[in-house]
Amino acid sequence: MKISLTINYKKHKFDLPVNRTLSELLRSQGFWSVKQGCVAGDCGNCTVILDGRAVNSCIMLAVQADAMHVETFEHIDMATEFAPLKEVLMDFGDIDCGYCMPGMMMAMKALLVKIPDPTEEEILDALAGSVCRCTSSVKPVAAISEALRLMRGKW
Ligand code: FES
Ligand code: FES
Repeated sequence: MKISLTINYKKHKFDLPVNRTLSELLRSQGFWSVKQGCVAGDCGNCTVILDGRAVNSCIMLAVQADAMHVETFEHIDMATEFAPLKEVLMDFGDIDCGYCMPGMMMAMKALLVKIPDPTEEEILDALAGSVCRCTSSVKPVAAISEALRLMRGKW
């Protein structure tokens, strides 16, 4: 089936089987930040932003994203957009393999675009579907919450 998809502000056309998931398609195009964890919609490691909404790309068919815009972690500029987060993560020092981080950051960005100054509850809610196998999610979520506190008003 033929679809068109804008990935990180660049237009693409694909001819693919209807059962190809969005995460499979993105990884086949070299967007390796889209991780494959559970591949069942439970861990959030494959989170991308689709037309402004954070989605689990492993349980979505690529054809469902036809004519939409998908943003992956490759498009996030860590040097500017998320600079405070980088520093806080280093301070916390307990992020282990980092496998969960791209998905968590995409969930965080989707939240910030919608709510520039989120409450603690809104942050926790946005990250509720993001699982970190190394640290039981406690440290990354704490680091992200702290970074958002530092970024308040700068987004
Ligand atoms: S890999 Fe998609 S939710 Fe776990
Ligand atoms: S740091 Fe390893 S999965 Fe989160």
